[in-house]
Amino acid sequence: MKKKIFIKTFGCQMNEYDSNRIYDTVKKIGYEKTLNYEDANCYLLNTCHIRDKAKEKVYHEIGRVKKIFRNKKKPLVIIAGCVAQAENEEIFKRESYIDLAIGPQSYHKINEMILNYFEKKKKKDETEFDVISKFKYFSKIKNESGKISAFLTIQEGCDKFCHFCVVPFTRGPEYSRPFSQIIDEAKYLADHGTKEIILLGQNVNAYKFKNYRLSNLIFEIEKIAEIERVRYTTSHPKDMTEDLIDTYKYSKKLMPLIHLPVQSGSDKILELMNRRHNIGNYLEIFDKLKNINSKIEFSSDFIIGYPGEEEKDFDLTFNLIKKIKFINSYSFIFSPRPGTLASDLKLIDRQISMKRLEKIQNQLFENQIIMNRSMENKILNVLVENLTENKKQVFGRTEYMTPVLFDGSEKDIGKILPVKIFKSNRSTLFGVVVNSSNKKVA
Ligand code: SAM
Ligand code: SF4
Ligand code: F3S
Repeated sequence: MKKKIFIKTFGCQMNEYDSNRIYDTVKKIGYEKTLNYEDANCYLLNTCHIRDKAKEKVYHEIGRVKKIFRNKKKPLVIIAGCVAQAENEEIFKRESYIDLAIGPQSYHKINEMILNYFEKKKKKDETEFDVISKFKYFSKIKNESGKISAFLTIQEGCDKFCHFCVVPFTRGPEYSRPFSQIIDEAKYLADHGTKEIILLGQNVNAYKFKNYRLSNLIFEIEKIAEIERVRYTTSHPKDMTEDLIDTYKYSKKLMPLIHLPVQSGSDKILELMNRRHNIGNYLEIFDKLKNINSKIEFSSDFIIGYPGEEEKDFDLTFNLIKKIKFINSYSFIFSPRPGTLASDLKLIDRQISMKRLEKIQNQLFENQIIMNRSMENKILNVLVENLTENKKQVFGRTEYMTPVLFDGSEKDIGKILPVKIFKSNRSTLFGVVVNSSNKKVA
């Protein structure tokens, strides 16, 4: 019987990148990727620990897998990612159906773990922070993502220790991959069809390898002829250095949407969170970027109901959202995480948090609707990523990452086409390809 692996991914883009790299790795010991979990004899969950709900999803999912495989041979069940890191061997006590647990900095050991498991039938967890060996190993196996828009992790971990956040504990200390390793991976992706590269890191703009910064990487990647677009995420306001801001003046391929999480509009709350930036710093960055290019737009993450958040703090967050007109933002109620400094703080009333969350989400949705409406009747550059299920339409994204649907065919995939938008809703634009020769593209 063929060995087949199914990976379900929760959490951030870094987990998506990792899942693809795990597929590339286990190929070496004969595992083939399957998109049908019922076919799998290895079921891997790549997990997220950022909020309690994200963690609980893992155990619900295992319950579901147990049911699916009730009358079949049990697959090898592996938990990877941030829950594996945070829970280590405790995970086997909570759920005996799990066979192996592997933290994010140990993926280079996954083949050895699987082979050992079959030899010794012994549960094992690997949770060392061995990030240098991981990327050394990954650099030897090709990134077979094959996607038009591909993720490329350049930096991992975090030394900032915001009081609410588990990332420094689950991903370990800040680490930047060697410059040439990243460029080689970008070139390989470009040679295999990728047109857009999204550089990833928990603090992507803290990238520092010798004298190279994120700005150097962007300029080097945009020299690759096949790469049409470059993006990066997630940035921290404290690491928005002048060279990175200046990149927006000179770069030809850097997209005009920047994800720059602010978390709260209140300096008091930012200090309680240990964010190391204030709203003044944030607005300064905003102004500098808008002065370089008024078409640059911002998206953000928000934590609502952080311990100590009063109505006046929340109002400051709400007003900031109106001022910056963030698009595509993420917002969640504060979730206390074990081991973090904020975990013992007195929570504010849940009902109040829920009301505040609803209010800001409505405002964020409105921002999105206004932004999308403003695109109607314009001709936008759309990078086509794939065919839709009905095979008559294609799916692409604007420079602001907004999804666009229009009639097209397989031959459009990988092209940047001028598309006239005739309709929009909150999440999607609908358009039609126009003849580029006589129309100006917005
Ligand atoms: N490094 C990025 C930064 O500094 O903004 C954020 C990375 S974190 C993986 C993604 C987002 O999860 C954060 O921006 C924050 O909004 C959210 N988050 C982290 N811990 C949280 C918690 N305990 N409760 C709710 N949201 C949380
Ligand atoms: Fe978490 Fe980002 Fe803060 Fe690091 S900087 S602790 S990843 S929120
Ligand atoms: Fe979640 Fe880990 Fe990413 S906690 S957000 S998967 S770094």
